[in-house]
Amino acid sequence: MSVAMKKNDQQILWRDDFPIFANKMNNKDFIYFDTASSAQKPNAVLNAIQAAYTNHYANVHRGLYQYSQQQTALFEAVRDKVKKFIGAPDSYAVVFTRNTTEAINLVAQCWGRTYLHQGDEVILSALEHHANIVPWQMLQNKIGFDIKVVPLNDSGHIDLETLKSLLGSKTKLVALNHISNAIGSILDVERVRAMMDEHAPQAKFLVDGSQSVPHMKLNLAHFAPDFFVFTGHKLYGPNGVGCLVAPVELLNALPPYQGGGDMIERVSFTGTTFQNAPARFEAGTPVIAEVIALGAAIDYLTSIGMEVVEACEKDLLAYLLEGLKNIDGLSIIGPQGVEGRAGIISFVMNNAHPSDIAMVLDQMGIAVRTGHHCCMPLMESLGVEGTVRVSLGIYNTKDDIDLLCEALKKVARMFA
Ligand SMILES: Cc1ncc(COP(=O)(O)O)c(C=O)c1O
Repeated sequence: MSVAMKKNDQQILWRDDFPIFANKMNNKDFIYFDTASSAQKPNAVLNAIQAAYTNHYANVHRGLYQYSQQQTALFEAVRDKVKKFIGAPDSYAVVFTRNTTEAINLVAQCWGRTYLHQGDEVILSALEHHANIVPWQMLQNKIGFDIKVVPLNDSGHIDLETLKSLLGSKTKLVALNHISNAIGSILDVERVRAMMDEHAPQAKFLVDGSQSVPHMKLNLAHFAPDFFVFTGHKLYGPNGVGCLVAPVELLNALPPYQGGGDMIERVSFTGTTFQNAPARFEAGTPVIAEVIALGAAIDYLTSIGMEVVEACEKDLLAYLLEGLKNIDGLSIIGPQGVEGRAGIISFVMNNAHPSDIAMVLDQMGIAVRTGHHCCMPLMESLGVEGTVRVSLGIYNTKDDIDLLCEALKKVARMFA
């Protein structure tokens, strides 16, 4: 058995499921630490896309012929896979969107435009991705409600005491990131739900699960979000598909998002009636192969078990944090320990600009992300322009981390 197999054999087995790792980058073995941006794709997903186009390709919801019926059945089955995977109660529906960004824009346009008024308050946090800030600001410019921002506490988490103090009768929406894509902090969503039930029971709770769905075992029933959103490409699935998961009753009380085919009940020039959710929000031909392949990604992760994924990534995270401690001049931004955080670590280094660090790592075949991570307000509140971000996926190994730490020691020497 090789040293690597002794270190963490599980991830090495999973890595073989991802054909991209047979490639070299800059003539070096490819080491990928940018899963928070977009995950690599396993064979199961690539094969599902291929099969959706070659085995019985047809449009969905339209044809009475066998292939269209088969394609429709495969497509529709993904809604139940999603619900099961994230523990959504039976009363919830899954709407397919393009990604998280579109899911939040859908909520802003359909729910926000209908139910938000001047004088209402929308609560966001300093940790939010631009996708959970800009749609609300655009709507605020039209409607004139207030946006309150919960700051971070000293440990790099959303300050729940401040959140509690902001909740009240004017609160109409609390929209928060489950796991920060920039610094990895995990939000205690069950506690937020309990606080909202006590201090603002009328408010809706939107949870951005973009970074939690791929990395932890979820049970939506435990925190009953009114809107839960995530994106397929971070879940080892394809680009172009995301999900809005919400109680069907709430969705049916909203106006449609876009108009067109598939979302109507009856059309005439004197008026049109709409289908119930989810079809109400899915105008036009959907991304058929991508939805089916998202189902394949969920099947793949389910076959591993999300508890196993979570435990393995926690083990890697502890190893990574330990390794980073030994790099001269490196400071981790955000939560310092393993508890309350996911495998997304941001750091800065003395004398070295994040882009310089990324360029040196690139030459060694190591992909990391640099910049503001679509969280400019967060960077401002942390007093940094940008960071280097290392994010973990199921294919990373302790050997990857050893190589990263060696490379960062070299960077430290170069910029000393
Ligand atoms: C927390 C979070 N929210 C939203 C998004 C936006 O995802 P997408 O670009 O797939 O819409 C991201 C992507 O980085 C994210 O990490």
